[in-house]
Amino acid sequence: MRELKNMVVAITGASAGIGRALAMELHRHGARLALAARREDALTALNAELGGGHLIHRCDVALAQDCAAFIAATQARYGRIDTLVCNAGYGIARRIEEMTAAEWQAIIATNLYGTTDCIRAALPTMSTQDERDGWRAQVMIVSSCLARRSGPEGGAYSATKAAQLSVAEALRIELTDRRIAVTSVHPIGTATEFWEAAKTIGGRAPVRSASEPTQSAATVAQRMVTAITRPRPEVWPYPLARWVFGLATLFPGLTDRAVRRRWLRQTP
Ligand SMILES: NC(=O)c1ccc[n+]([C@@H]2O[C@H](COP(=O)([O-])OP(=O)(O)OC[C@H]3O[C@@H](n4cnc5c(N)ncnc54)[C@H](OP(=O)(O)O)[C@@H]3O)[C@@H](O)[C@H]2O)c1
Repeated sequence: MRELKNMVVAITGASAGIGRALAMELHRHGARLALAARREDALTALNAELGGGHLIHRCDVALAQDCAAFIAATQARYGRIDTLVCNAGYGIARRIEEMTAAEWQAIIATNLYGTTDCIRAALPTMSTQDERDGWRAQVMIVSSCLARRSGPEGGAYSATKAAQLSVAEALRIELTDRRIAVTSVHPIGTATEFWEAAKTIGGRAPVRSASEPTQSAATVAQRMVTAITRPRPEVWPYPLARWVFGLATLFPGLTDRAVRRRWLRQTP
């Protein structure tokens, strides 16, 4: 079991939602944190709430140089990186035919390259540092349950989340011999700024029915903390979702019909 006290955890997208909740939970356990996002004021406020002892770093993960600078600042401050949480991301509600080239580039730059650029920057340090509690380090990628199955107006977002899952699956095996764990996280709908941000960016809210279950960011963060102490390949904070989405991949035609019915009910 990995000890959380003094563990160095770098989190992207720590100014709100899941990343913020994770920072609060890890702080409670005595971890040393490096917190990144674009809104420096929100990071400063969070750090003050947590006693002011953590590193905050303004970072747009869509820019490779920002990712590299965040990882370098974490290494300079703490001398190692035990866990990197690639969490920064956003959604957009668009039919595939409506997505412009610029919108594709933007969402891939943030959700996918923001993940891979941080990982690439962190691996040299992670690969050479001493093992602690049986592991040299861990890469945790916040993907989504929608990595396994997409739906109307969610294709672009799901594509980035599926790409993150593929990265995690490959990387996990590539890094086994270095004792670096790789974990992907697959939340269902979570009560965060995500929905409002998607509406602001895309002009309309993502398709979602009022009857669908929702989790709190705190619940997702607690499940992530469990998987930081005991690394595992995947975290499904709402366990039933793993089975529902697994079945959906086995029965694509049936799932298409069910998802289409739901979409038509919700579309004015
Ligand atoms: N909420 C859900 O229903 C849900 C479900 C499944 C998966 N997820 C995933 O969970 C992750 C966190 O989302 P959330 O629900 O916590 O949403 P959120 O409340 O909107 O938080 C998103 C975080 O990402 C940061 N961020 C966005 N773009 C960024 C960029 N270019 N550079 C740096 N930071 C950036 C935001 O900070 P700044 O704006 O300050 O930069 C914020 O801290 C995302 O990857 C999302 O895809 C969410």
